[in-house]
Amino acid sequence: MRYQHISVEPLTPTIGAVISGVNLGEKPASAVFSEIKHAWLEHLVLFFYDQSITPEQQLNLGHMLGELHIHPAAPYRDNNPALMAIHTGPDSHRNNGDTWHSDVSADEEPPKASILYLQTSPKVGGDTLWANMYAAYDALSSPIKALLAPLSAKHSANYSGYYGDHLPQRSNPSAEHPVIRTHPETGRKALFVNQGFTRGIVGLSDRESQALLQMLFDHIKHPQFHCRFHWRENTIALWDNRCTQHLAVWDYFPAVRSGTRVTVKGDRPY
Ligand code: SIN
Repeated sequence: MRYQHISVEPLTPTIGAVISGVNLGEKPASAVFSEIKHAWLEHLVLFFYDQSITPEQQLNLGHMLGELHIHPAAPYRDNNPALMAIHTGPDSHRNNGDTWHSDVSADEEPPKASILYLQTSPKVGGDTLWANMYAAYDALSSPIKALLAPLSAKHSANYSGYYGDHLPQRSNPSAEHPVIRTHPETGRKALFVNQGFTRGIVGLSDRESQALLQMLFDHIKHPQFHCRFHWRENTIALWDNRCTQHLAVWDYFPAVRSGTRVTVKGDRPY
């Protein structure tokens, strides 16, 4: 596609693109939004530098993609559970998202999109990696694709103690999803198991299930499926949880990294 309203600079041939020519503080016109959406479906994670937006504008951006998702347990800002706080600093004992995962894949209808606005980022470190799950699927051999095609996996979350004193919004989710899902907008197949939430494969023994999952978790770690993004302050990332996984690196203690995430509900994977 030739973009007329935005400029799209791929980060790698496989995943990620930096978008310029857009001020997300203003509601994008429909022609601009449709180019952003097109670039998002093509590059899977988009980055917008030098953005200055209010929480309301971030929430509105989420609304443009669908109904907002409420995280089961994470702290939030502005008294609004749809505005998830992402904050790590000198008092932190953990970092959000430091295992490969697709956001809250343990929900029956896992989020389709996440919009992270980082206002504070360390000068060095604090990168996030994303992995392309279409590419991970495509790279599997035909016999493994055939083995995985009919299988489902159990996903579950256990947030107990994870967010300190903060009281959870709802109980820990769990769900079964196909190991290979079809993206509802592109029709492409993507690998849909992740180390953060996937616990076992339905119908296999524990030993078989752990061996198969470990092989897939190792497979997605191959750098050829990845981009690695170094944040600048006031950057927004928009990613597609249906066909990516991500990992936030905590290598910057005791520096502060802080922002908000707005997440958009998805549909039941098939
Ligand atoms: C997350 O949403 O999992 C956190 C990502 C990040 O902080 O880079």
